[in-house]
Amino acid sequence: MDTNPDHIPAVSIRDLEKIFPVPLRRRRVVALRGLSLDIPAGHVYGLLGPNGSGKSTTLKILLGLVTPTSGTTEIFGVASDRVSSRVDVGFLPENPYFYKFLTGAETISFYGKLCGLGGGVLKDRVNELLDLVGLNDAGDRRVGSYSKGMLQRIGLAQAMVHDPRLLILDEPTAGVDPAGSRQIRDLILELKARGKTILLTSHLLEQVQEVCDRVGILAKGRLVREGSLDILTGITEQTEYLIENASPELQEEIARLAESRGARLVKTRQPQLDLETVFLKATENAKQPGG
Ligand SMILES: Nc1ncnc2c1ncn2[C@@H]1O[C@H](COP(=O)(O)OP(=O)(O)OP(=O)(O)O)[C@@H](O)[C@H]1O
Ligand SMILES: [Mg+2]
Repeated sequence: MDTNPDHIPAVSIRDLEKIFPVPLRRRRVVALRGLSLDIPAGHVYGLLGPNGSGKSTTLKILLGLVTPTSGTTEIFGVASDRVSSRVDVGFLPENPYFYKFLTGAETISFYGKLCGLGGGVLKDRVNELLDLVGLNDAGDRRVGSYSKGMLQRIGLAQAMVHDPRLLILDEPTAGVDPAGSRQIRDLILELKARGKTILLTSHLLEQVQEVCDRVGILAKGRLVREGSLDILTGITEQTEYLIENASPELQEEIARLAESRGARLVKTRQPQLDLETVFLKATENAKQPGG
């Protein structure tokens, strides 16, 4: 057995199966079938899949909130059914709920106290986290007045209050507008740079592509694809060039040259800005404070 702490995966899932009984209808829902995967420490892993494919169930089993029918899960080598496995984990649930009448700062402070922080250490931690999630200006406002994007960010701050090594984020950008989800993605990359391991779920594939090192795709509770993004999405037999000021003659010449060497020019196209860039540029000057 490998006992070097650096080699222990942040998350290890083996042969996980979950069957939910539906007593009234006398049927069963098979939410997960034979799921196995490892997430090395320091990676950002995206668990993808359509609605009902078993993403949230996987996270809940990992966190010890749901008992699996069979199989095992471990966090940094500690089985999920042991309380000590949760010491190093922060969790952002699918639709986080916060007390509407607490301010952002009070909300983080509340969760900090639950984790045993207090005094000057807690105060510093609250300010540091408000800063990290970009909510310093809104820290004194009641959470009930926050936008969806701000709520997700206060949820992230809550998940990080005890500075865990692993963050589990269920749909961190769901329902958040492009500028807000950009901020959340930047935050995820910042946390990765600080050495955190992140497991997130999503069905927003373009966003996942930007932040994840590896992805697993679930369908009806089964892992149907798994691997690093380059390997999953790379088209190895093709090469893309981006050429400025190419005249039609030059383009024809390139096509001829390619053909004479046994290659084939598949297509030429004009690059375009993606819609998100257009949206962000058009709205950035009309931003609401704190939003
Ligand atoms: N407590 C429960 N009792 C019965 N069935 C459940 C329960 N929790 C989840 N399920 C079922 O298990 C399956 C997987 O649900 P899960 O919430 O894990 O999916 P998901 O991939 O997170 O979906 P979404 O994208 O909608 O969040 C679904 O068919 C769901 O109805
Ligand atoms: Mg879910």
